[in-house]
Amino acid sequence: MGVLDHLSSPSFLKVFLFYFITIAFIPEHAFAAITRHYKFEIKLQNVTRLCHTKSIVTVNGQFPGPRIIAREGDRLLIKVVNHVQNNISIHWHGIRQLQTGWADGPAYVTQCPIQTGQSYVYNYTIVGQRGTLFWHAHISWLRSTVYGPIVILPKRGVPYPFTKPFNEVPIIFGEWWNADPEAVISQALQTGGGPNVSDAYTINGLPGPLYNCSAKDTFKLKVKPGKTYLLRLINAALNDQLFFSIANHTLKVVEADAIYVKPFDTDTILISPGQTTNVLLKTKPKFPNATFLMTARPYVTGLGTFDNSTVAGILEYEFLSKAPHSKLPMKKLQLFKPTLPALNDTASATKFTSKLRSLANAQFPANVPQKVDKHFFFTIGLGTNPCQRNKTCQGPTNATRFSASVNNISFALPTTALLQAHFSGQSNGVYSPDFPTRPLIPFNYTGNPPNNTNVNNGTKLVVLPFNTSVELVMQDTSILGAESHPLHLHGFNFFVVGRGFGNFDPNSDPAKYNLVDPIERNTVNVPSGGWVAIRFLADNPGVWFMHCHLEVHTSWGLRMAWLVLDGKLPNQKLLPPPADLPKC
Ligand code: C2O
Repeated sequence: MGVLDHLSSPSFLKVFLFYFITIAFIPEHAFAAITRHYKFEIKLQNVTRLCHTKSIVTVNGQFPGPRIIAREGDRLLIKVVNHVQNNISIHWHGIRQLQTGWADGPAYVTQCPIQTGQSYVYNYTIVGQRGTLFWHAHISWLRSTVYGPIVILPKRGVPYPFTKPFNEVPIIFGEWWNADPEAVISQALQTGGGPNVSDAYTINGLPGPLYNCSAKDTFKLKVKPGKTYLLRLINAALNDQLFFSIANHTLKVVEADAIYVKPFDTDTILISPGQTTNVLLKTKPKFPNATFLMTARPYVTGLGTFDNSTVAGILEYEFLSKAPHSKLPMKKLQLFKPTLPALNDTASATKFTSKLRSLANAQFPANVPQKVDKHFFFTIGLGTNPCQRNKTCQGPTNATRFSASVNNISFALPTTALLQAHFSGQSNGVYSPDFPTRPLIPFNYTGNPPNNTNVNNGTKLVVLPFNTSVELVMQDTSILGAESHPLHLHGFNFFVVGRGFGNFDPNSDPAKYNLVDPIERNTVNVPSGGWVAIRFLADNPGVWFMHCHLEVHTSWGLRMAWLVLDGKLPNQKLLPPPADLPKC
């Protein structure tokens, strides 16, 4: 038969219809993932705040750094070129990095730092995540100036599970130091004392009008009446958990750590370093004849000194009138200020935290591990190291230096990268695989502290077979003062199945766990003088850092790492290292 006959034959029609129907009904997002390229030039930049001008380490000369925008499913190729004298590495905080641990970023954990004049391309795909995260330097204290937002939009055509916002605004909290933070921490580690505190908090790099010589450096959020705004809140501060509030406005929390949550209304947000929170701000229906401050100041539980100042930004309504006298001078408008909880208001902190719940619906299920393969119990807290011989130190006594530990081990970073040592089978002399599953010497963790507060120093890892279901209870100690610690786990989200004050009771507390809709996140506060229980499935091979996101505690050793072994299937194995992986 001829060609035309063929075209009109019933079998052709069937094939044609099959293609037509298939193509028409494949959702667009199924083939919309793309590769996005970014270039991060690490360079010095002069920046002035509080009348102090100094040269800071930045990405592309920007402070805060550039925003990364991608959609769920996209691949990112970010070339980082180091033009400064400091070694650098960048961490994509909260990105799961499935099989791509080489791109995670913590220096001496998954990579050696990028040295002066060198570059490295971070190459990873965003899988099953959408919301707000952030990136930051992950070496020493360089993240004080090297940080910026990561905005992950849902796949094209997929709506948010909440009111579509009229506009979206990242609000990233940071800390400003008139001194050089690198000098601050290196001096503190030398003397053994607590480091000096920052001079200001910032919103999008700006301290705002409550500081001297700072009114012109104020973040302004300009809004229209009667609209919904999505504020992407990020705490990139080094050492401080923050309360945040906007005067005369209620915030609706819809997402935390790039996971949708059951929406709830609140006047005040608590956000710890390493945490992100998306909130909806509904503006007043009519021009309110007023402006409103948004402020943040710390939630403090420890005994050390801290920056007790307040950062403020301004919520400003655009006056939309076509009348000739529409330009109302702003200073004539009344200014409202929010009331924030007291600095040590643990009740307010707890009230906020306990409202957070996973969405846990059909589209966004909470896959909480219901059975546990391995239980871990870690103490989290401060401690001491003896002062160097024949010296006096500025620790809790002049014979001691401040330290911090997990299960009384203050984690020492190696001089090569843990992941490289593991992958090349050369872990001898770099780390040992025997991190204790529980404290070697149990004590009354939240009672009177023991006389001997000395820590052990070492580089020990927990080794987990692929797909181990883990439960970890983190218990704060009262050594050198109980304190709320924001613990961050790389490479995973975990479910926060329980929390409480005092000592964890393995007999009665697990019965109270929430295994239905617990909050899923990457950074959780261990309550001051209390405990928190998390669960996660170790389904991502690699070496994964876990540490307090208060940078001073990380520097003192409140950090450890998990080594998750490869699974059997090809997609359960760590990919080989990229050719340009930096060398130590
Ligand atoms: Cu945002 Cu290991 O840190």
